Amino acid sequence: MKFKQLKEFPADFLWGASTSAYQVEGAWDADGKGPSVIDARTEFPAGTTDFKVAADHYNRYAEDVALFAELGLKAYRFSVAWTRIIPDGDGAVNQKGVDFYHNLIDELLEKGIEPILTMYHFDLPQVLHERGGWANPATVDAFVEYSRVLYREYGNKVKYWLTINEQNMMILHGDAIGTTHAGGEGRKRDLYQQNHHMFLAQARAMALCHDQLPEAKIGPAPNISNIYAASCDPEDVLAADDWNAIRNWLYLDLAVRGSYHPLAWAYLVENGYEPTIQDGDLDVLKAGRPDFIAFNYYATQTVGASRGDATDLKIRGSDQQIVRGEIGLYRGEDNPHLPKNAFGWDIDPAGFRTTMRAIWDRYRLPLIITENGLGAFDKLENGRVHDDYRIDYLRQHIEQIQLALSDGVEVFGYCPWAAIDLISTHQGAAKRYGFIHVNRDEFDLLDLKRTKKDSFFWYRSLIDSNGGSLQQ
Ligand code: BG6
Repeated sequence: MKFKQLKEFPADFLWGASTSAYQVEGAWDADGKGPSVIDARTEFPAGTTDFKVAADHYNRYAEDVALFAELGLKAYRFSVAWTRIIPDGDGAVNQKGVDFYHNLIDELLEKGIEPILTMYHFDLPQVLHERGGWANPATVDAFVEYSRVLYREYGNKVKYWLTINEQNMMILHGDAIGTTHAGGEGRKRDLYQQNHHMFLAQARAMALCHDQLPEAKIGPAPNISNIYAASCDPEDVLAADDWNAIRNWLYLDLAVRGSYHPLAWAYLVENGYEPTIQDGDLDVLKAGRPDFIAFNYYATQTVGASRGDATDLKIRGSDQQIVRGEIGLYRGEDNPHLPKNAFGWDIDPAGFRTTMRAIWDRYRLPLIITENGLGAFDKLENGRVHDDYRIDYLRQHIEQIQLALSDGVEVFGYCPWAAIDLISTHQGAAKRYGFIHVNRDEFDLLDLKRTKKDSFFWYRSLIDSNGGSLQQ
C-alpha cells in the first residue's frame, strides 16, 4: 500500500543499538568469569579470530557508553554473560561479574539510555554444556535460577528484558555459531529436545519476571524473516509455508501462545524429531507470556519445492557454513530481485516490512527490532570511516519501519547491529557492523582505539529528528 502521508515515529520511540557480551566484552576469564561454550571453542573458520579480547568493552565500557550517549541512543541492547554472574552455570554468584553489569547499567541510566537486557546470547556456561547442555533438563532449572539473580540484582534498574537470543538460529545453525552441539545418529531429535527445554526455560523465566517485577516487560528475541516462494507454483508456495512454520512460527507460537505450531509439530513427528514432553510441560509453556516481541532481521529467504536430492541444498553466498534447504522439505533458492552484501547475504528492506506485518498480524503484540544491520569490510583512512553503504542500508530499513507503522503495526524501538564494532559470530573481526570503529585486526590487537564512522553522525541526526531526517 502507498500512503500520501506516513505516520510519524512515536515520540518515545526507542532508537537504540545492540551488542552481545561475548562478541564485544573480551576479558573472557577476568574477575572470576567462568568459561562458556564460546570460550571453550578451539576451532574457528580459517583466518578468523577467537573472542578472547573482542572489542575490550569490559575494560572500556565507560568510554563506550559516553560515545553511545554522544550518538544520541535512547536505548542500548546488550547481553549479560551468564558465566560472569554464575561462573559454572548453577553454583555460586560471582560478585565481580554482578558489579560489572551494575556499573554498565548505572552508566547508561546516568546518560538517559534505557538498558535492554538479553539474558542469554549464545554463551552457555561450559560446565552446563559438559553436563549435557540444553539436552539436560537441569539446564532449565539453572537458567531460571540465573534469571532470578538477574531480577534481584537489576530489577529496579532494567525495565526491558529479553530471554534468549535467536533460539531458532541456535537450533538451525548451532554448529556455525558454536552453540548447541549435537552429533551423530539422532542429532536432529536431540536438537529439538534442546529446543523444547529452551522453551520451558524461557516460559518459566517470563513467568518469574512477571511475578518478581510487575512493572518490567519481557519478551523473546528470535530471528524472524519472511519466507518467499520462488514462484507462484503452488508446490513452491507450500514449501514456503512449511519452512515459515518451522523456521519462524514454531518459535513465536511457543513464546506467545505456549503451544507447538501444528505444521511444525507434524514435521517433527513425521521425521521422528519430536521431543519428549513431560507431564506439566504444557502448563509451564502456557504460563509464560511475553509483553512484546523482540526480533532480529537481516534478510528474507526464498524457497522452492524440494526435489528430494542434494540439489535442494544451497550455500549462502561466500558463507560456506550456512546451508539453506532441507532434502525432502524445501529447496534453497536465490532471489534474483535482491542485491547482496559483501558476504553474499540478501538485502531486502521491503521484506523487513512484510516481516513486521506478518508478526503483528499473527500476535498483535508490540514489536521491537533488536538486530538489523550490514556486515562490511570497513576501512579506516585518515581517521575516518566512510561507510555510506551502511547508511544506505539503515536508511532503507528504517524507512520500512515507518511504512509498517503507517500500515498499523505497533513498533516501539529499533536497535540495529551493532552499537560498536565487535566480532562476528563466525566471520571474524574484519566483518564489521558498528557505528563506532574499533582499531584491531583479525589477529593483531593494534590500539583498539574508537573512531566514529560516518554512519555514527548520520544516525545521530536521524535520532535527533526522531526519524524526520529520513525525508531529507
Ligand atoms: C545474529 C546474532 O544472528 O546475527 C549476532 O544474534 C550476530 O550475534 C549477527 O553477530 C550477525 O551475524 P554474523 O554471523 O555476521 O556475526
